[in-house]
Amino acid sequence: TDKYAVVGNPIAHSKSPMIHRLFAEQTGQDISYEAILIDNEETTFQWAIADLRQRGYKGLNVTVPFKLDAFELANELSSRAQSAHAVNTLVFQDNGTIYGDNTDGVGLVNDIQINGERSFKDQRVLILGAGGAVQGIMEPLLAQAPKSVHIANRTAKRAEVLGQRFTTEIPISGSGWDEIPLDEGYDIIINGTSASLDGKLPPVSPQCLKDNSLVYDMMYAQEPTVFLKWAKEHRPDCTIMDGLGMLVGQAAESFNIWRGVQPQTQNVIDEVRQQMS
Ligand code: ATR
Repeated sequence: TDKYAVVGNPIAHSKSPMIHRLFAEQTGQDISYEAILIDNEETTFQWAIADLRQRGYKGLNVTVPFKLDAFELANELSSRAQSAHAVNTLVFQDNGTIYGDNTDGVGLVNDIQINGERSFKDQRVLILGAGGAVQGIMEPLLAQAPKSVHIANRTAKRAEVLGQRFTTEIPISGSGWDEIPLDEGYDIIINGTSASLDGKLPPVSPQCLKDNSLVYDMMYAQEPTVFLKWAKEHRPDCTIMDGLGMLVGQAAESFNIWRGVQPQTQNVIDEVRQQMS
């Protein structure tokens, strides 16, 4: 049995052990997967990781607040980890080096494309927020060739700076809430702010919605988030998805990196959601 784990703080309520157990059952892989607390008052991230490696773990997922520490620790980084400036997946390689990847963006993109059955190709995309979570999805999203991307954020400057970071043919712009271009509405709208955590709405105009908009919240909860409820109220025909699919999707990509097998996600999303109710 090969050992894997997710490390973070807090970690007790992590859904990752359940998700990876379901993947292992689905694919017939012989692995164990635990949630391990790193107490950053007792130890450093670096020491904790060295200890886990010593104890025979093959790879780790890394969550809040250690994704930047993992980025700094890895000896070798994927391009998407470099672009995200954060690492959520570590691989302890046989040659002694640590490989760092970031699967969050692919998790989101796959959830929308596979489970939501929506392509990004030629779509007008609006992203709300410009923090770490949004930075983490930019490269995989741009790789899907959307028509344009607008990033809006409470702090306008942060959206403008993030928008300028990528060299691509795809037009990317950034602004505050009040300067979002609203001429035709957006095909795909992604809320990457942490506002939903406090039950708050990013103050955007309902004019950014269209009947066939796909509205995605990177947060998830038992109930639809305030943002998804807001979208449905203004445009009952829009499609809403929450971030549980992204969570399962990033796990699937990590599983694939470690095991070379790509698990299917929809049945796992359904099962995890059932456990939440
Ligand atoms: P994360 O890793 O979750 O992205 P972060 O880097 O702190 O965390 O970014 C949080 C994001 O949510 C930012 O875009 C932040 O806006 P600012 O850049 O202006 O701080 C946004 N955010 C947080 N609370 C918010 C609120 N109540 N309303 C709107 N935006 C909020």
